[in-house]
Amino acid sequence: MTEVTMNIWRGDSNGGNFEQYKLERVEGEVVLDVVHRIQATLAPDLACRWNCKAGKCGSCSAEIDGKPSLMCMTRMDTLPNDTITITPMKTFPIIKDLVTDVSFNYVMARQIPPFTPGKPQPDGTYRMQQVDIDRAQEFHKCIECFLCQDVCHVIRDHEVNKLYYAGPRFFVKLASLEMHPLDTVDRRALMREYLGLGFCNITKCCTEVCPEHIKITDNAIIPLKERVVDASYDPIAWLGRKIRRKSKMTAQEAYELAPARVAPTSLDGIPATAVED
Ligand code: SF4
Ligand code: SF4
Ligand code: FES
Repeated sequence: MTEVTMNIWRGDSNGGNFEQYKLERVEGEVVLDVVHRIQATLAPDLACRWNCKAGKCGSCSAEIDGKPSLMCMTRMDTLPNDTITITPMKTFPIIKDLVTDVSFNYVMARQIPPFTPGKPQPDGTYRMQQVDIDRAQEFHKCIECFLCQDVCHVIRDHEVNKLYYAGPRFFVKLASLEMHPLDTVDRRALMREYLGLGFCNITKCCTEVCPEHIKITDNAIIPLKERVVDASYDPIAWLGRKIRRKSKMTAQEAYELAPARVAPTSLDGIPATAVED
């Protein structure tokens, strides 16, 4: 019989420390199984968030031996050591033990103007090319685990950036909207001026931790950056707009379409200052 030692951070917003739990190893378990056994036998007050235990709800996110991961998708036999350390996601405020307050992400989600289709075809239908569907398909696999937000150094290490930076999960969302051939909103100025796309320096850490293997940097962020550059600095695109007499949407115009926007002059403490429409 082999033993495993689980080193789990316990505490709340006032502070905490690591507690060690020794258990028998059971073949085939994932980290969440062991956490559940600890709750059942050693520490019934240990808090952790979970729901599906199938890698689909995105709620069991934590840091396992320092790596942002889903506890339900991390097999115990893939971890090399007999002592395993589990900490809550570092980027978000602690509620209790392994549970963090991820509401920053919900506030960010509401800064994004939703899908806005144009007029349908004369027969009342909308049509898309298969190539457009294929391109956006991977973006719709996002389970909102926020592991990419957790690992992104722009959010993690610079508290003030959180206020001006949507983060990789929402660049994925923005890419799915911007690449949608039926959508009519131009979010490029919004991304540049309010959602911080320029802060991303393409380190690809977000892509490395995504459990859905979305190529966040290559397929979402870099194409968005190219689109923003085209909209702002490309003289040929500028000439094309002049000839077609079509102006690009300003950041403020796009922002007005978001479900809840944050007043740019009062950005300290986003959740408290979200402006409801
Ligand atoms: S590539 Fe950009 S969004 Fe992703 S982790 Fe790095 S800085 Fe953050
Ligand atoms: S993009 Fe990937 S890592 Fe980020 S929230 Fe979605 S599933 Fe999680
Ligand atoms: S419990 Fe749903 S993703 Fe882990």
